[in-house]
Amino acid sequence: MALLEVQDLEIAVRTKGKLLPVVQGVSFDVDDNETLGIVGESGCGKSLTALAIMGLLGGTTVRITGGNIRFDGMDLLTLSDGERRSIMGNRMAMIFQEPMTSLNPVYRIGDQIIENIRQHQKMTNAQARDRAVELLSLVRIPNPSERVDSFPHQMSGGQRQRVMIAMALSCDPKLLIADEPTTALDVTVQKEVLDLMADLQTRMGTAIVLISHDLGVISETCDKVAVMYRGRVVEAAATENLFTELAHPYTRGLLNSIPVVDSDVDWLEAIPGRVPTLEEELTGCAFHPRCALVTKLCATTVPQEIEYKPGHSVRCHFSGKVAP
Ligand SMILES: Nc1ncnc2c1ncn2[C@@H]1O[C@H](COP(=O)(O)OP(=O)(O)O)[C@@H](O)[C@H]1O
Ligand SMILES: [Mg+2]
Repeated sequence: MALLEVQDLEIAVRTKGKLLPVVQGVSFDVDDNETLGIVGESGCGKSLTALAIMGLLGGTTVRITGGNIRFDGMDLLTLSDGERRSIMGNRMAMIFQEPMTSLNPVYRIGDQIIENIRQHQKMTNAQARDRAVELLSLVRIPNPSERVDSFPHQMSGGQRQRVMIAMALSCDPKLLIADEPTTALDVTVQKEVLDLMADLQTRMGTAIVLISHDLGVISETCDKVAVMYRGRVVEAAATENLFTELAHPYTRGLLNSIPVVDSDVDWLEAIPGRVPTLEEELTGCAFHPRCALVTKLCATTVPQEIEYKPGHSVRCHFSGKVAP
């Protein structure tokens, strides 16, 4: 049994009295010490999937309409609020693209980490402060014993991202969900933050779900990859297999979109068009209006998920006809 198991997850958004599906039949699992990458363009349902796992969807506009989420054998969808609170931020933690969504600008970063630690662990204030300094040093903040008293605005974007990672790690989570954690950072800092996460995983055996729109970032960091398009996983495989046996035209497009270093053209127009919005009615494969291989069948029939190779699934009527 994997640490995290997501099975046939369905999420719907209520707009103008209609319930529109936004995540459909999404399944994946993640083991201890393993990194799963979820990749897809903006609007494909990656963040909603992450928020559903964390129990953060809340509200009535967006809600889970089907499927199962199991963590360490527990059914997350039937937990009481109290049980859920004790797991979140303790055994599961999430970091976001924009650190200021998790950091409070009016409190010193140390105090925020200390509060987080003391919510979940029995420690004196002094012990929690020592732990906060230790965590800041672990995420390579220089002079941690001084910086612990800084306010968020006194730090650079990259440092704030590290502080948020320190905060997420303050309770040794078994699972860390990182939603576009490096998108707002420049390339050098981005690499440092990803290295840091990999390093922490080696030390602590954390399971990681890394979400990104950038297949380049995912390919360097993840053991396996789920490619999402408009609410569905359209291809999933171990990272090395995804690149050698690539089977979905959308994955091909994402791969072509990886910026080429030292090139004048740094973002190739690899996939024409855009992700259809929720309101746009679609028949057949959601990718068909943008696909070079489109046929009549694609416009009328949703492709079923098939096991294209062992451990490699794909949803496309033309699986395997795409040149890797
Ligand atoms: N709170 C919300 N209310 C209505 N629609 C939403 C809400 N959150 C997300 N959506 C819509 O759901 C779709 C998927 O969103 P999201 O999971 O954020 O995508 P991604 O993270 O892949 O960019 C988008 O079309 C988005 O506009
Ligand atoms: Mg998102």
